[in-house]
Amino acid sequence: MWFLLLFIHLSSVYSRHVGEILCRQCGATLTRQSELINVTGVDKSLLAYEYDFPLTGKMTKVHVLSNPEGNKFHVFGAKTAHLHFHGTPQSTATWYPGYKWTVCLCKQCNKHLGWYFEVEKRTALDTITDKKNFVGLVLENVISADYVDTLPKTPDF
Ligand SMILES: *[C@@H]1O[C@H](CO)[C@@H](O)[C@H](O)[C@H]1NC(C)=O
Ligand SMILES: [Zn+2]
Repeated sequence: MWFLLLFIHLSSVYSRHVGEILCRQCGATLTRQSELINVTGVDKSLLAYEYDFPLTGKMTKVHVLSNPEGNKFHVFGAKTAHLHFHGTPQSTATWYPGYKWTVCLCKQCNKHLGWYFEVEKRTALDTITDKKNFVGLVLENVISADYVDTLPKTPDF
């Protein structure tokens, strides 16, 4: 009986996380499938390569980019995410021209998870192209809750 109760408990804990994207280090909820976007406007000269990745079952564009320190990141986009802003917005060395960036950390464990990209200046052109602020998340540092869902197994009676 105890394992049945345990299973019901695990199901209720995980099922409400369907489609969510979590911090790989601590499991904090960051964002969800409906927030994912294919980011456009990357500086091609800074882009190593790009590919489509099925994140929570939704094909999402991933940009492979390096910072001036030579660290390589696989970055995907979300409209919003629950993150802690670290430091002030920077305009130098931006991967997305026209955006300034702020480092984002996990609210729960402080792991570096990505950057908040904010439209630099509201010009007439920005309105026409409908440029919007977004979050760039590091693929290696997140995990899909749908994957976590597959871990508890139904007891075999
Ligand atoms: C990204 O683009 C692909 C193909 O162009 C599309 O299938 C997918 O749904 C898009 N993903 C998002 C998150 O908008
Ligand atoms: Zn975390």
